[in-house]
Amino acid sequence: MHKQKLAKESYVQMTELVLPNDTNTLHNLMGGKMMHWMDIVSAIAAQKHSNRIVVTASVDNVSFKKSIKLGNVVTLEAKVTRAFSTSMEVHINVWAEDIPSGTKVMSNEAFFTFVALDQNGKPTTVPEAVPETEEEVRLYDGALRRRQLRLILAGRMKPHDANELKSIFNL
Ligand SMILES: CC(C)(COP(=O)(O)OP(=O)(O)OC[C@H]1O[C@@H](n2cnc3c(N)ncnc32)[C@H](O)[C@@H]1OP(=O)(O)O)[C@@H](O)C(=O)NCCC(=O)NCCS
Repeated sequence: MHKQKLAKESYVQMTELVLPNDTNTLHNLMGGKMMHWMDIVSAIAAQKHSNRIVVTASVDNVSFKKSIKLGNVVTLEAKVTRAFSTSMEVHINVWAEDIPSGTKVMSNEAFFTFVALDQNGKPTTVPEAVPETEEEVRLYDGALRRRQLRLILAGRMKPHDANELKSIFNL
């Protein structure tokens, strides 16, 4: 197995067309449908990084800044930001495009965490993800802080042990 892989090697882009069955009664894309697409695109990125079957361990706060309309083209981009021992954080950006009017706006951003499993369904180690660009380094650096926050919320870490978070608040 590789010990390290470049973050960019996990990059995945997925394009979807918002069809009537994807919308609510206001003809806007349903939030659950968006989260389904996010789960798929980010799981593929985590699979590419780890070359393993992965499961979703957690989903961070997802906010819906703008509604996405029936007929819009939705582009989702996902990339691993940082790998830990058996888990990987994936960043997702979502764009909504109205082709007839030529407008394209960023509509969502999210972080999903996946765990790589071995042939027996047990968590298994993954390669380190190496950031290259300024943006990749920024996301890599913030990943430790986000990990500590989500592990505290999941009851898997004591706030007292979250050194990265404590340093932000000067505790
Ligand atoms: C995620 C799962 C594999 C963790 O299993 P576990 O027995 O708790 O394993 P571990 O304690 O060894 O943790 C494995 C990794 O998961 C991470 N993890 C577990 N729960 C987490 C959470 N809520 N948020 C973020 N990471 C989490 C741990 O930090 C650890 O990461 P690390 O090795 O990089 O430090 C297990 O809880 C599971 O199978 N959950 C169901 C997944 C699922 O069905 N998803 C939806 C469909 S794909």
